Parts: sequence; structure tokens; C-alpha cells
Amino acid sequence: MEKKIWPVFRLCEEKDLPSVMELDREAFFDPWSRETWLREMRNPIACWIVEVIDREIAGFAGIWNVAGEAQVMRVAVKKTMRNQGLGLLLTQELIHKAWESGAEAVTLEVRESNMAAQTVYERCGFVSGGVRPDYYEDTHEGAVIMWLYRKQQTAYGSGGHA
Ligand SMILES: CC(C)(COP(=O)(O)OP(=O)(O)OC[C@H]1O[C@@H](n2cnc3c(N)ncnc32)[C@H](O)[C@@H]1OP(=O)(O)O)[C@@H](O)C(=O)NCCC(=O)NCCS
Repeated sequence: MEKKIWPVFRLCEEKDLPSVMELDREAFFDPWSRETWLREMRNPIACWIVEVIDREIAGFAGIWNVAGEAQVMRVAVKKTMRNQGLGLLLTQELIHKAWESGAEAVTLEVRESNMAAQTVYERCGFVSGGVRPDYYEDTHEGAVIMWLYRKQQTAYGSGGHA
């Protein structure tokens, strides 16, 4: 029988940055510098969380709440731990943080080719609002713009695994 993993979530702290930055490098073509991460830690409109399993950081995610609209900045799960439901749990926790911070909507951009991320976001209840063409510098692919509105969610975490 498959073993269920139960991650713990907490706010990201400066001491987490070495692990978070390693994961950032693994997950994105444009990882942030330590200076950028330090700025993010102090950014009053930002909220960054980490997903922890056995004291190890398995994922991180963050939002910026701008005037009641939460923009998802980054969501990442360690390569070796993907496809086990951790991205879904992490995104659900991030949405919870967005509502807690007073946001009425959450929005994000995702590469057209990034089906893993789109699967996670759709499960969380996000719907596509259209595609912004030629959005990404490296591949010139389009960005799918997705939205989730608080009033549409009947309960926290709706859209989990069927
Ligand atoms: C996006 C990301 C966070 C998802 O994390 P994860 O832990 O693998 O997510 P989950 O396991 O909860 O769900 C992934 C789902 O996508 C599916 N999936 C994976 N690759 C896929 C593909 N190529 N096509 C379609 N579905 C795919 C998985 O099967 C899984 O669905 P399932 O639960 O029905 O099996 C992770 O892939 C990641 O860190 N990617 C790099 C960073 C990134 O792209 N972040 C998003 C930027 S917008």
C-alpha cells in the first residue's frame, strides 16, 4: 500500500534560504539572488511558505497581496518529491494564506507547456482567463493567466484529489 506523506507548512524564514535557493535553482531558469530573497523576506506585501517533510524543505511558494489581489510569485516542489500530491497541498496552503491576508482573488501566470502546474492549479479551482502570447523570455511561449475568486470557493481547499 502506498505510504501517504504528511507535510508541515510554516512561514519561510531567513534560515531556510540555502534550501529554498537550491530548490529555486532546480525549478526555475531565472533563480533569484540571495539579495532578492532577503528583500522578499522583508517585503510587507509578500507571504512565503515552506513545505517541510522530516525537517527537510520539500517545497516553497509565495504570493504578493496587492490591493486585495494575491499574485502567485513562485511555487516549487523538489524534483525528487514531485507527483506525490505535494504541489497540490502547497498550493492549497498558499491560497489559504491569500484569503487570510485579505485577498479576494488569486491570480498567476503559468507556461502553456507546464501541464503539471496547470493540473495542480485547476484542481485548486483556478480557471484560465486567457493566454498572454510570447510572455517568457527563454522560450517565447505564452503564459496562461489563471484566476481564483474567494467568493467562488465554497470551502478552503476545494478541488482536491478526487
Ligand atoms: C508544478 C509543481 C509545483 C507541481 O508539484 P507536484 O508535487 O509534482 O504536484 P502534484 O503531485 O500535487 O500534482 C502534479 C500533477 O500533475 C500531473 N503531471 C505531471 N506531469 C504532467 C504532464 N507532463 N502532463 C500532465 N500532467 C502532468 C501529475 O500526474 C499530477 O497529477 P495526479 O495527481 O493526477 O497524478 C512541480 O512540478 C514543480 O516544482 N515544477 C517546477 C516549478 C514550476 O513549474 N512551478 C510552477 C510555476 S507557475
